[in-house]
Amino acid sequence: MNQLPDDFTILALETSCDETAAAVVRGGRTVVSNIIASQMATHERYGGVVPEIASRQHILSLAPVVRAALAALPNGWNDVHAVAATHGPGLSGALLTGLNAAKAMAWQRGLPFVAVNHLEAHLYAGWLGSDPPPPFPLVALLVSGGHTLLALIRDHGQYDLLGQTRDDAAGEAFDKVARILGLGYPGGPAIQAAAAQATPGGVLPRAWLRDSYDFSFSGLKTAVLHRVQDRLAQAARLSGRKGGNDPAQLDAPFVAQMAYAFQESVVDVLVSKTVDAARRHGAQAILLAGGVAANRRLREELIRRAHVPVHLPALDLCTDNAAMVAAAAFYRFHTGVQHGWDVDVTANLPLGASVGA
Ligand code: KG4
Ligand code: ZN
Repeated sequence: MNQLPDDFTILALETSCDETAAAVVRGGRTVVSNIIASQMATHERYGGVVPEIASRQHILSLAPVVRAALAALPNGWNDVHAVAATHGPGLSGALLTGLNAAKAMAWQRGLPFVAVNHLEAHLYAGWLGSDPPPPFPLVALLVSGGHTLLALIRDHGQYDLLGQTRDDAAGEAFDKVARILGLGYPGGPAIQAAAAQATPGGVLPRAWLRDSYDFSFSGLKTAVLHRVQDRLAQAARLSGRKGGNDPAQLDAPFVAQMAYAFQESVVDVLVSKTVDAARRHGAQAILLAGGVAANRRLREELIRRAHVPVHLPALDLCTDNAAMVAAAAFYRFHTGVQHGWDVDVTANLPLGASVGA
């Protein structure tokens, strides 16, 4: 255990997917700067992230993003005590750009370096700005575009995986259903906005997977697809046109209704399992993390049904950012972890498996 000074200041980089991000965090919980250059518009026309383009874009954006993050410190580099970067899970080429840049900067400045697991980083968004910090043991629901998992956190760095998705990640399901409904990318915010226009009602199936904390969203996605196909066929019959698969032909009230029913189904299963796990494991609190944690219905329903305090990261810290990487790094340094220059990227790094000190 390292006793770190309260003002221990970390510069962190995050490049695991399509955001080039740099942030400065003091004492593991105070965000000094949080800069994000999103590539969303670049990838939008391809309907998803193109790995090669992501890597090239990270290389172009890294220097300006780091400069902007450091500008918030009165003495720039002289105020930085350590450097961190995400080393997995994520796109290998994208991870390499940020990891190598961070290692080079740390080496050149003679600063300690730590590589951070992206999943752990999402969880540590819950520590940023929180006073008091989340207590242990804690049940955490991590729902992002690439992952959906429920974990018991006994202490810093001690994770027991309770369950995970057997098919699509929750965010991936939002994105795919948004595409089926002809809503934009990313799907989460688009579904949330459309659902808010619906008259409550209409039920879609829930995959409970009884006696398990695992999740499944592909059946729900298929249920939406079948309803959409039926609706398009019906509209084609009425108008005498040939049937098609163009979601632009769907009427807005139907789209809103589907978005609403889909969101309710996802939220119901996520919240029920999380609250149940928290009870069973005697958790002191529940932590919500990952891009889908920005979902308004999920946040309010979890607070409504939880029997213990719920820790929710600020909305802008739910989706990918580097402040959460710095927060995770602080607690890694705190527990005595530090990495050498040989630490590499690991595209499929599981939770709790960042290579040791
Ligand atoms: O954590 P994140 O930024 O990236 C990954 O590490 O995957 O998560 C992105 C995911 C996307 O699938 C996006 O649709 C979803 O988070 N998302 C939301 C909302 N905002 C973002 N899902 C539901 N409701 C939202 N408000
Ligand atoms: Zn993420």
